[in-house]
Amino acid sequence: MSLDKDEAIENYILSHIDEEGELLKQLNRDAHVNLLKPRMLSGHLQGRMLKMFCRMIQPKYILEIGTYTAYATLCLAEGATDDAEIHTLEVNDELEDFIIKYLHKTKLKDKIHLHIGDAMEIIPKIDRTFDLVFIDANKRHYIEYYNLIFDNVRPGGLIIADNTLWDGHVLETPKPSDKQTIGIQQFNDMLAKDDRVEKVILPVRDGLTLIWKK
Ligand SMILES: C[S@@+](CC[C@H](N)C(=O)[O-])C[C@H]1O[C@@H](n2cnc3c(N)ncnc32)[C@H](O)[C@@H]1O
Repeated sequence: MSLDKDEAIENYILSHIDEEGELLKQLNRDAHVNLLKPRMLSGHLQGRMLKMFCRMIQPKYILEIGTYTAYATLCLAEGATDDAEIHTLEVNDELEDFIIKYLHKTKLKDKIHLHIGDAMEIIPKIDRTFDLVFIDANKRHYIEYYNLIFDNVRPGGLIIADNTLWDGHVLETPKPSDKQTIGIQQFNDMLAKDDRVEKVILPVRDGLTLIWKK
């Protein structure tokens, strides 16, 4: 498909699904003006998908690894039930003010627990069995995150991993210095052989893998 047609299809999709809402639009604009790498945030289509997954599986305990702006956090919170608890982890403390500014604009904040620090240190301290985990932090460490959370996901729980097609780089032979591509490739290869789970890769945006724990 040509780039123009890809863009046209994306615009068509966005004009035929639910709106992202004024707060998320404002957050998105703010991120594009004031933050580095604003493309990291989930965005309209993926955000609506995350909300829909929450509507469908009604998770009580949710873990997000990699908050960035809290765009996806707010989408998960929108779809989750009122008694849900969302733990979101962000290592970059310079993002804290931005995140808190947006959490405080909505009552959804009541469901959200923000942890600033390294996921590898924080996860073992959260005493919860998760129904839904969204892995979206450092691409070099997806296998470590997965191994760390696996026993704390309930059977029948869902793990979602973002960026698993990595802009198509998964098809290439990466330079040894390209640790992000290598990390994603190793994660995908490991997962393909993991028979404790069922998995499917959705070619949405940068690739979204859905992993269902047996
Ligand atoms: C792709 S962004 C997250 C986007 C967000 N989940 C969304 O969909 O809108 C990745 C974030 O993970 C954070 N991160 C990277 N390594 C981390 C770690 N070890 N622990 C916690 N956060 C980490 C980065 O600082 C960055 O803000």
